[in-house]
Amino acid sequence: MAGRAAQLFTRCFGHPPRWLVAAPGRVNLIGEHTDYNDGFVLPMAIRRYIVIAAGANSGRQVTLHSVTTGETATFSVRPKVERGEPGWSNYVRGVIAGFQKLGKKVAGFDAIIESTLPFGGGLASSAALEVATATLLEAMAGPALDPVEKALLCQQAEHEFAGVPCGIMDQFTSILAQEDHALLLDCRSRTTTSVAMTDPAVTVLIINTNVRHKLAESEYAKRRSQCEAAARVLKVAALRDATPEALEAARRQMEPVVFRRARHVISENQRTLQAAQAIQSSDWDAVGRLMYDSHRSLREDYEVSCPELDTVVDIAQGIGAAGGVIGCRMTGGGFGGCAVSLVRTDAVQRTTRALDMAYEKKTGRQANIFSSRPAAGARVLKSG
Ligand code: GLA
Repeated sequence: MAGRAAQLFTRCFGHPPRWLVAAPGRVNLIGEHTDYNDGFVLPMAIRRYIVIAAGANSGRQVTLHSVTTGETATFSVRPKVERGEPGWSNYVRGVIAGFQKLGKKVAGFDAIIESTLPFGGGLASSAALEVATATLLEAMAGPALDPVEKALLCQQAEHEFAGVPCGIMDQFTSILAQEDHALLLDCRSRTTTSVAMTDPAVTVLIINTNVRHKLAESEYAKRRSQCEAAARVLKVAALRDATPEALEAARRQMEPVVFRRARHVISENQRTLQAAQAIQSSDWDAVGRLMYDSHRSLREDYEVSCPELDTVVDIAQGIGAAGGVIGCRMTGGGFGGCAVSLVRTDAVQRTTRALDMAYEKKTGRQANIFSSRPAAGARVLKSG
């Protein structure tokens, strides 16, 4: 993939790229919509990447060419980078603006952006683009940032330049993930515990529904404010601090919908910690149960699933443990995108075929299904 990006760069700009960087997408095993509640998440990076091939130019312009969309964005870095078109360029613009805010000089550059991450598919392609950009700017402009500072800068870019009030999970994973490990991240202290995912008998399958429902972004912001409303009633800094008992006791003080949102977050935090433990002790039955419970909670209490995601989870649950499926749930923000399933390795081919056929039969759509081992975080492949 990097070789392809380098070749394309050479063809477009007449000389080989000076820098090559890659940042992975992620799949979240469990811990959904908990990150912006100071809670716990358990994602892993996947072997799908955004690669940027870049070279300096003598001007003050940045030229970005996206292989995926076929579009080119050109903008000036002086005095200050602003939002602009096309939409995807804002992830890059936002990160450059973040570096400028830190007082770092960003010179003009030309870049080719290659991706094996479906855009808008719930696998954190936007975070990967932000992190790839930040990794490139570190390589171009000198000392690397502290990884947590880098994740926060990328998150800020998404808040300010893309208008999505996301949590920290995606950027953090794309930077700090470790090969063969999931990352149990405490989103309050921003500390991580690596959870080995090396059992050869278990495979992570990612099922892309290939739907993206509108409203995803406005509903995301709405969920965030409902969680904040619940935390205010419960008089806690964030829902991370609330117990199921405290929530139950305050039930009448909040709107039913706010109660249900909080119930999801509080129970999901518990499930995430339990799942990390269960993976560590290879208690796959428990992991599977927690994944199905997570999905039910996201569907009924948090209301961020959709018919296509529910269909995938129903099919997987129908195949069940007897057919080699350990667990399945929607992953990421929701309203389309991907589901994640843990499957016995010896049943992967059979399960993939069964999911594929049943999904098409029930929805009239084609799913994309692939497996991934946990990948390492972003890195510089070539520098100077
Ligand atoms: C999106 C956001 C993350 C997280 C998930 C839901 O991926 O970018 O910060 O909130 O949704 O868990």
